[in-house]
Amino acid sequence: MTGAAAAANAAASLALASSSLTRHRSAARLLLLCRTGNPRPTARQSRTADTILRGPSPLFHRPLVLARSPDLPAPRWRLFCNRTLSADAVACEKPAAEAGKRIREFRKRLRIVDVKGGPDEGMDRLGQALAIRGWVRTCRVQSSVTFIELNDGSCLSNLQCVMNIDAEGYDQVESGAVTTGASVLVEGIVVSSQGSKQKVELKVARLVTIGKSDPLTYPIQKKRATREFLRTIAHLRPRTNTFGAVTRVRNTLAYATHKFFQENGFVWISSPIITASDCEGAGEQFCVTTLIPNTREGTDCLVNTIPTSKDGKIDWSQDFFGKPAFLTVSGQLNAETYASALCDVYTFGPTFRAENSNTSRHLAEFWMIEPELAFADLNDDMACATAYLQYVVKYILENCKEDMDFFNTWIEKGIINRLNDVVEKDFVQLTYSDAVELLLGAKKKFEFPVKWGLDLQSEHERYITEVAFAGRPVIIRDYPKEIKAFYMRQNDDGKTVAAMDLLVPRVGELIGGSQREERLEYLGSRLEELNLNKDSYWWYLDLRRFGSVPHAGFGLGFERLVQFATGIENIRDAIPFPRAPGSADF
Ligand code: 4AD
Ligand code: MG
Repeated sequence: MTGAAAAANAAASLALASSSLTRHRSAARLLLLCRTGNPRPTARQSRTADTILRGPSPLFHRPLVLARSPDLPAPRWRLFCNRTLSADAVACEKPAAEAGKRIREFRKRLRIVDVKGGPDEGMDRLGQALAIRGWVRTCRVQSSVTFIELNDGSCLSNLQCVMNIDAEGYDQVESGAVTTGASVLVEGIVVSSQGSKQKVELKVARLVTIGKSDPLTYPIQKKRATREFLRTIAHLRPRTNTFGAVTRVRNTLAYATHKFFQENGFVWISSPIITASDCEGAGEQFCVTTLIPNTREGTDCLVNTIPTSKDGKIDWSQDFFGKPAFLTVSGQLNAETYASALCDVYTFGPTFRAENSNTSRHLAEFWMIEPELAFADLNDDMACATAYLQYVVKYILENCKEDMDFFNTWIEKGIINRLNDVVEKDFVQLTYSDAVELLLGAKKKFEFPVKWGLDLQSEHERYITEVAFAGRPVIIRDYPKEIKAFYMRQNDDGKTVAAMDLLVPRVGELIGGSQREERLEYLGSRLEELNLNKDSYWWYLDLRRFGSVPHAGFGLGFERLVQFATGIENIRDAIPFPRAPGSADF
């Protein structure tokens, strides 16, 4: 517990003390004060809390024990207070400043990456006694010695554990309990390895089987399994090299994303997952309703139990939110509200699209990163997208070396060079009109037509970035307004909007963004042109009524970034539990 938390606990105790002393206050008021943690204190309470926050006074070293009426319900805060006080009683005694300086240790579990991940690959630990927990990848029993490859997910490398017959727990090897997939604890001494694959190994002194794994039915066998098969065992696939590596790189990309935005003064905003507006206007939303019974028994319910109005339409007024509500396709509109107050913000959360696209680049549930920049135009937006992408790619190249080498060897040969180019070289920029010219002049025969005014298809996008610009990321800007969303800022030509898409090899569109229409009258007429209900956008229009500013932003599909950064072909392998048409298992 930090000094501040200790002080808050003490403040809570004291709030109770003063409430008990002033008996005329009701129990309800007391609960309210304590539960919120943000009471409107009386002058007396306020003084005391203030004193606590400034530092400990002798009064607070003596715990206050208070008699509580047995008729009163146990207030929630008191449980919290008791729990933390007993667990951290000693720390409460320490001056707040000292306790706040360090991060408290909460568990000591040595990971394989701690042993082998350093520059010496474990040589600095020679002779050390240590304990590791993990899952057995393989167990090779030879006449005098047994080799157990152990993995704990902290890195790609296994820890080779060498066990002689005199080691404690060898009976578990003999009885066949130490099989692929079993979880074990091994204790032993780090020694230099005879084998060429690793510098150090563990000479086992003791082994304990934690959880057995039946070798006949364990679905992950030594021979290589297809990705399609692994998708059917998504609960076990993180135990494979590929999915372990993808998961670690995905994690590092998420960390680097927050790091980039935080270092550049952006504020993270949680945009709502349930929404009543359709940001992209593409009608690809999942409905959120309680009109259809949602329990398992309710799946048998008859259609005529759904309430309807006289004209036979669904009566949404009886629904949970009193109107139709959906899973969000984008947090952008909400992000814009906060950018119109805090300047630079970003969202990073799940988004949902009910588009029936069974492709290697589409998911029904995916994560999106959406920065929104105030006092910014399309050029600022493109510069931010470029800087962001280069930053996160550089970050994984520097911090996920082992996993990136694995992808380079097994998933996409040359991916490291390709990503190095992304970091070092400028991105190509061209207008939509130029892109159409380029495609019309291409020797390649495309399946979908190319014509000014039509949207670019994946095959066009990939041709531009993979063939025309030899693998360089390409930003296409100024698209026809008819093929883009209502909120994009109209250019002076009256035909195009200040939109941009960032295309990368293999994936195609990685980022979609734009400068937003900040002019009330333009936005209003665009909503009318598109037959969108202006009233439901009242709050969005308010941003243009009160202190409107030029602003711009973009959305990046996080799983597409994972695909791009790891070389994994199918987006369903870039997220732990993919949701796609006809597939919502696990
Ligand atoms: O281009 P999109 O539709 O843009 C928006 O949603 C804007 N509101 C973003 C903004 O300006 N704040 O989607 C943005 C990105 C795409 O470029 C793509 O990477 C990803 O989201 N994306 C998908 N990823 C996986 N599966 C899908 N079905 C996706 N649809 C879009
Ligand atoms: Mg798009």
